Amino acid sequence: MQQYHKITSADLDFFIQTCGKEFVFSEESSLADYAKDHTEDLIFYPEVVVKPANDIEISKLMAYCNQQLIPVTPRGAGTGLSGGALPIHGGLVIALERLNKILEVDEQNFQAIVEPGVINEAFQQTVIEKGLFYPPDPASKGSCFLGGNLAHSSGGPRALKYGTTRDYVLNMEIVLPNGSIIQTGANTLKYSTGYNLTHLMIGSEGTLAIITKIWLKLISYPTQNLLLLASFESATKACEAIAGIFKAGNNPSVCEFVEPAGFELSSKLLNIPFDMHPEIGAYLLIEVDGNNLELLFNECEQINTTLEQFGVKDVLFAQTAEEKNHFWRLRRSIGEATKFNNVYKEEDTVVPRASLPILFKEVKDIGKKYGFRTICYGHAGDGNLHVNILKDQLSEEFWNHELDKAITEIFECCKRLGGTISGEHGIGYVQKKFMPIVMPEIQLDLMRKIKQAFDPNGILNPGKIW
Ligand code: MLT
Ligand code: ZN
Repeated sequence: MQQYHKITSADLDFFIQTCGKEFVFSEESSLADYAKDHTEDLIFYPEVVVKPANDIEISKLMAYCNQQLIPVTPRGAGTGLSGGALPIHGGLVIALERLNKILEVDEQNFQAIVEPGVINEAFQQTVIEKGLFYPPDPASKGSCFLGGNLAHSSGGPRALKYGTTRDYVLNMEIVLPNGSIIQTGANTLKYSTGYNLTHLMIGSEGTLAIITKIWLKLISYPTQNLLLLASFESATKACEAIAGIFKAGNNPSVCEFVEPAGFELSSKLLNIPFDMHPEIGAYLLIEVDGNNLELLFNECEQINTTLEQFGVKDVLFAQTAEEKNHFWRLRRSIGEATKFNNVYKEEDTVVPRASLPILFKEVKDIGKKYGFRTICYGHAGDGNLHVNILKDQLSEEFWNHELDKAITEIFECCKRLGGTISGEHGIGYVQKKFMPIVMPEIQLDLMRKIKQAFDPNGILNPGKIW
């Protein structure tokens, strides 16, 4: 393992000279916010945090740290759920919050150029005003940064119809660990020019280079949508209905699965009333979108017919924009509400869509075997089920030493069904021990060699992914 150097006062002087005194932080009180992200309750203090203004400053910082063997952790908004932004070896955190400009929206080419610190939802709103659409919509869209979305190839509910962040990135400017600044591709819709470094960077969780500029693809904004909430007595039937909807020829923009306990917690947290019926086993939140309302109503009728075939109990149409907003807030806050209510671990399982009923059943069976409760919810149309394992009254001993066995069983099930251990949250720090379940050593070794090619001194976001 690399021997890293502790940051000295001479290093601090260099950071101040590069970024300016007001953008360099080394007091414990100002480091606290950068010692954690949204992953469980993990805390790792950096030695210093810097907030550079641009790619040139980042390039100087990187070249210096590379030479001095100072570990560097890039950080967006800190909303990640796998510990990717935690500075587990201390060192320097490069916070990208000042690179927060939307540089251009090109209405001719349906493209935009942004810096990595732009908030996802702010960007979506900006392009909607021009009739354009940037679909990726993680639950944290109100605070997460586009750069972090690229680092994890984030998804969200609309990934079902529109794809994940990966599908909207054309090109990017990056700073390599040795300080070189390069572009990874071209600003084109097609690219067949050697290895695709743009796609290699997406999902690399800040381990290969720091993203300083992004060229994004946009599409036309669908002006209409309809949202319905279907309730089922049998959660398994709800899972089965999802593949049925697609088999019947429908193409919803969203198909989210939620166990009642998820809505119960978010309803309490947000103080939004939600009518719970004790006999309900699961909900599906389904949206269709487009430009022709009549066609959308037809599509909903067809979906309703399918849902009836799977024993739906009730289908509720959101009647107003406010009602839609309530459903969405309730859905998006489940992760936060769970964390507020309980110690928990979140697993980001994903399997081919039609295998979801099997995954769901096995998760529940494994929970029974080991004696824990789970709240399952997520982007079921994508086969992506977030499994929140609750600590409740379980002993520290079990939680810290035995739970991994149960998680391993869940992940082995994913693998058996043709899925994997993360659909959109990434591997980061907390999931790396499970990587061998889905990847043979030869594949991990290839990844390590790619890392070595980008970062021979191992200074960039060390201790992540493997
Ligand atoms: C979600 O779908 O709500 C997000 O991925 C966040 C989470 O699961 O906590
Ligand atoms: Zn999600």
